[in-house]
Amino acid sequence: MKILLSGATGQVGWELARTLLPIGEVVEVNRTQADLADLKALRGIIQQYKPNVIINPAAYTAVDKAETEQEQAFLINAEAPGVLAEEAKKIGALLVQYSTDYVFDGTKSTPYTEDDATNPVNVYGQSKLAGEQAIQSVACDYLILRTSWVYAGRGNNFLKTILRLAAEREELKIVADQIGAPTWARLIAETTAHIVRQAMLERQVNNFNSSVYHLTSSGDTSWHGFAEKIVKIVREQGKLALKNRTIHPIPTTGYPLPAKRPANSRLSTSRLEQQFGLTLPSWDNALRLCMQELD
Ligand SMILES: NC(=O)c1ccc[n+]([C@@H]2O[C@H](COP(=O)([O-])OP(=O)(O)OC[C@H]3O[C@@H](n4cnc5c(N)ncnc54)[C@H](OP(=O)(O)O)[C@@H]3O)[C@@H](O)[C@H]2O)c1
Repeated sequence: MKILLSGATGQVGWELARTLLPIGEVVEVNRTQADLADLKALRGIIQQYKPNVIINPAAYTAVDKAETEQEQAFLINAEAPGVLAEEAKKIGALLVQYSTDYVFDGTKSTPYTEDDATNPVNVYGQSKLAGEQAIQSVACDYLILRTSWVYAGRGNNFLKTILRLAAEREELKIVADQIGAPTWARLIAETTAHIVRQAMLERQVNNFNSSVYHLTSSGDTSWHGFAEKIVKIVREQGKLALKNRTIHPIPTTGYPLPAKRPANSRLSTSRLEQQFGLTLPSWDNALRLCMQELD
């Protein structure tokens, strides 16, 4: 099985380049070989490699910058996945696309299911939703995996920011009124490998249904709860000297950003767990394992 993988320099893509190894021959295409903003070149790459599976974790992920770079965000997050879907359909490949909790407005009081109405409150969320819709309208075989609050031991993310700030500052102020599930990039990548393998077996016997799935850790917390847990684990590990003494909870209004964020980012993962017979671990368990690998 030949797997074409974009975005292998990103958090999820870097992990995918490793977790996909046992299920097929992985061909990595980075920005130089396949710039998602160059739709013609993108088509050429798929036609050249003719993969059985296209996995696309590459995306325009700068949530705040997207507010002023709408055109670029839509080109990469909406038009490019549409082109990948068209090319996948031509060659009978499976397309795996990642999407986000930010397709929802966050006003629901319980976790969102895949069937809940979408209503993104920022440009990034709008562009990712448009990407989902572009794939669905082409109707190739696809898996759209919506995840949330992604972190990893490498790259720029909330975990790395808190580790840095907690080493430098006695006091931190972190937003406590947005709720979601922090999700380790490796968990996303390992789960992807499992479900792609099953999906390819289902396709062989004409028993595959394209669908949207929610893929996050289980449980939930706020950004403030996430930060407190990071600091607690660092202290238990005793690996890093921390100046931090207090993390103050603040409302979203106390930390204004260009892009609005949903207050409720919780995604129900029952559909994925039932369909693929998987159990997604709690966010704090996965965080502890991720942090064991940090220097
Ligand atoms: N991060 C989150 O909290 C979060 C939450 C929900 C959903 N998601 C979704 O999950 C997926 C993976 O996110 P991530 O956090 O792993 O992303 P990331 O770490 O920001 O990595 C993004 C990747 O996309 C590549 N890329 C960006 N623009 C490109 C272009 N024009 N052409 C080719 N490659 C390009 C980057 O390449 P360079 O290294 O060359 O820039 C990088 O490899 C994305 O679909 C994202 O929307 C993320």
